[in-house]
Amino acid sequence: MAHFYVTTPIYYVNDVPHIGHAYTTITADALARWHRLLGDDVFFLTGTDEHGLKVQRAADTKGLTPRQHADQTSERFREAWRLLDISNDDFIRTTEPRHYEAVQTLLQAVYDNGWIELGTYEGLYCVSCEAYYNEDDLLPGNLCPIHRRPVELFKEDNYFFKLSAFQQPLLDWYASHPEMVQPDSKRNEAIGLIRQGLQDISISRTSINWGVPVPWDPGHVFYVWYDALINYATAVGYGSDRQRFDTWWPAVHHLIGKDILRFHCVYWPAMLLAAGEAPPRHVHVHGFLLVGGEKMSKTAFNQIAPADLVPEFGVDGYRYHFLRDQAFGPDGEFSYEGMVARYNADLANNLGNLLSRVATVVAKQCGGVGPAPAPDSALAAVAASVWSAARAGWERVAPSDALEATWRLVRETNSALEAAQPWKLQPGPEVDAVMGDALEALRIVALLASPAIPKSSEEIWRRIGLTGAVGPLDRQRLPAAAEWGGYPGGLPVEKGTPLFPRIKPPYNADR
Ligand code: MSP
Repeated sequence: MAHFYVTTPIYYVNDVPHIGHAYTTITADALARWHRLLGDDVFFLTGTDEHGLKVQRAADTKGLTPRQHADQTSERFREAWRLLDISNDDFIRTTEPRHYEAVQTLLQAVYDNGWIELGTYEGLYCVSCEAYYNEDDLLPGNLCPIHRRPVELFKEDNYFFKLSAFQQPLLDWYASHPEMVQPDSKRNEAIGLIRQGLQDISISRTSINWGVPVPWDPGHVFYVWYDALINYATAVGYGSDRQRFDTWWPAVHHLIGKDILRFHCVYWPAMLLAAGEAPPRHVHVHGFLLVGGEKMSKTAFNQIAPADLVPEFGVDGYRYHFLRDQAFGPDGEFSYEGMVARYNADLANNLGNLLSRVATVVAKQCGGVGPAPAPDSALAAVAASVWSAARAGWERVAPSDALEATWRLVRETNSALEAAQPWKLQPGPEVDAVMGDALEALRIVALLASPAIPKSSEEIWRRIGLTGAVGPLDRQRLPAAAEWGGYPGGLPVEKGTPLFPRIKPPYNADR
């Protein structure tokens, strides 16, 4: 059985979940669901990143221990993912004992292999980024370029990872694994960073204690990023269950935003090589969702939370928009009007309308019982080409292409109905043939769209009578289930309320 391991970044526990975090998570979720339909053994991981000075300080301000603080704030991510119907198999918190064990095991291996040494570090640190900056990269007034807050001068004994020794091994690795980082522009960016020359990096701190202790020198804790990256190994058994680890690693798919490319495409593979492990097989990098032309941030006051949009669009309306309209790769501007337009066009008009039309005609002209499709229907060829385009889209982590392809079948089926006008015909074989084809098309659409709109797809499946006769949607297996002819006919078709009620202007008069 094929294995499919997909991860999101672990989100900073101090942040409030916003549509940018949700974007990566929903994409990972849709991929996980697609692979489950293919019958793969899937492991989908997300979680929260809970160490570091920022968390320690936030906890101090609230008069809580860092752990109490993280317990409260980590929950916000779990809540957001419940709201968005995220089907993660695990939720890792970096403060869990299993993670301490994995971090200590991995970095001890790097140390034992001779790739870590003690040194002194002096530098300008942005607490919000949890990162040191070169003076050249700062804004005038020594401000962090991302947070526009003053950086602080830190000086301390640090352990250093000898990253400089990995320049050539990394270049060799990239040369022999050309598919590792996608899209190509991002792979080139990673290779460019490596070619520029790599400096040794500081991986421990003595100035704080909210972190994983360095096993050979417990006065130090690991710097938050080097603990965080290891979460991907922890969750599949690194340091506790070698066999399990080898089942899932290194064939992982990391989904990340472009802001953390250096960590995932340079530092992480180097750390793994230094520990004697294989680097991750796939890193898929996407751009930013911009709001008003800017990256969302607390300081820009432009954050939008999933919970701001779900009441109006529904969970599936929300998921569909981000998967369909925000192509995976480039930056994309979020627009409320664009979201309404897409919802109304694809969900309310195209898919919602198709379902209600079919149910109405079947009720009136077929006695409420869905007829079987014709094997030689013109829509069969459309369905076959849609299936291969959708599969290709999901395979290359292009959900927008996969959904665009899937909606071709919706549109073609609506056109076929408009051409045949079954609502004007007398009950009989002609109507049955048209309606059987439309039901079969709906069955295939429900299946192929289910990674994006799981609840609505299940509802379509149920309304056209499949749950009892064919079995639950999530038990169907591709590719067989996508073949034309799976709708058995003779099933009760239910008329229901609109699946995607149209959103009418004035959209947000009371906001
Ligand atoms: N904790 C680190 C990641 C450690 S992974 C070992 C971190 N966390 S974060 O909370 O800042 O989240 C980073 C990820 O959230 C980004 O890489 C991206 O996937 C997602 N996004 C955050 N803001 C985003 C946008 N505005 N647009 C799209 N995705 C964004 O960095």
